[in-house]
Amino acid sequence: MKVLAVGGGGREHAAVEALFRSGSEIYAVMKNANPGIIARSKEHLLCDEKDIDKVCAFAKEKGVELAFIGPEAPLEKGIVDALEAIGIPCAAPTKAAARIETSKTFMRELVAKHGIEGNLGFAHFDNAGDAEAYLRTIDHEIVVKPVGLTGGKGVKVQGEHLHSFEETMDYINEIFDQNIGGAGVILEERAVGEEFTQMVFVDGKRIVPLPLVQDHKRAYEGDVGPNTGGMGSYTDADHLLPFITQDERSQALAILQSIVDAMAEEGCPYRGTMYGQFMLTVNGPKIIEINARFGDPEAMNVLSLIGDDFEDVCLRMATGTLDRNVEFARKATVCKYVVPRGYGVKSESGHEISVDEDAVRASGSVVYYANVDMKDGKLVTGTSRSLGIVGIADTLEEAEANCEAALKHVRCDAMAVRHDIGTRALVQRRGDHMRELRSA
Ligand code: AMP
Ligand code: GLY
Repeated sequence: MKVLAVGGGGREHAAVEALFRSGSEIYAVMKNANPGIIARSKEHLLCDEKDIDKVCAFAKEKGVELAFIGPEAPLEKGIVDALEAIGIPCAAPTKAAARIETSKTFMRELVAKHGIEGNLGFAHFDNAGDAEAYLRTIDHEIVVKPVGLTGGKGVKVQGEHLHSFEETMDYINEIFDQNIGGAGVILEERAVGEEFTQMVFVDGKRIVPLPLVQDHKRAYEGDVGPNTGGMGSYTDADHLLPFITQDERSQALAILQSIVDAMAEEGCPYRGTMYGQFMLTVNGPKIIEINARFGDPEAMNVLSLIGDDFEDVCLRMATGTLDRNVEFARKATVCKYVVPRGYGVKSESGHEISVDEDAVRASGSVVYYANVDMKDGKLVTGTSRSLGIVGIADTLEEAEANCEAALKHVRCDAMAVRHDIGTRALVQRRGDHMRELRSA
């Protein structure tokens, strides 16, 4: 089938590889020249992914029959509504359904209205004065979130990033003064535990689970530093994570099914991959956020393992016919993102980067290109994450070792990597943290 793939990051490269393996003829649209995507595409268009008119004209001209949309920004602009209007089914949500991600207030209110488990206390403000008055009345720690999209970088947590009433108010004032996210602020109860990602394929009614993944949002080793889009992630061979039980995972899946049911009831049925980010607390999984797409880096882990025909899965999501489970190889994966030095604060971009792809493959790993671009015939880094290396093996330890071996074949003089992701020490520490909380 002719498939449109929108987006130029690591997540989209992973999706394009999976589509390519299932025989799709790929027509890609992205703003940066991602060499991995270009290599698998019949044709590609370099343009702003939010330029819906251009994307639709390209799709129509090429006669595409199905669309995969990677990033959230074009979803927020209504790319799916526009493509469906010209008869192209999409494995992604409409503008109304994408509100589950694009408006944190919509998500929290939907979950509250439908009495769905896993919600956290929250309050929404459209001015700093009201937020300050509320902040004076509460006696628990909170998390400050701009309501709109911020590329995963706008969230600050009391006790981690904000250490006093004053620091909290300074950040709230900054959000309003600089109009970060563009839609006010949410103050959310802080959940304590271990985070995990449960993604599901959705066809409007049914959900089909993907393996659990744990992402690492903090910029620096040891889980410190600013929040980022995600520095790397791992999956285990049993598709669970070392600190979570099957029962707790089922609770997370039940929450996602209830959200899908609620959206259908509200007249905005959800189709596409849905991303549930949860905090596993002593009182079960709590919703941190719901996204209207694959996670990035998480997509690179799970799409490296998908056994089914991904084109068929996308078509089933798009057409409401997802009537069976999807197979994933029973292997562990460890993904580490190579990012430009300074990423998370101020990236040093524009440096040449190169990868010995054969050596990466020989080490039991896969490379997915992300925010890189071609300049004067050379591959250079952008300001966001450069490329992901995914080590794959029977155990987490071997997968981590494979990833590290592959990283030796990436060359760039201004790069950073969180080498602790997927290591025994870090995985153990997270397990210990959960055990301590459970026994307290
Ligand atoms: P988000 O962009 O909503 O995924 O938030 C980024 C990071 O902030 C998450 O990965 C969590 O580590 C943290 N975070 C967000 N919301 C909460 C919350 N309610 N309680 C504790 N941590 C949170
Ligand atoms: N890895 C976090 C996200 O994709 O939102």
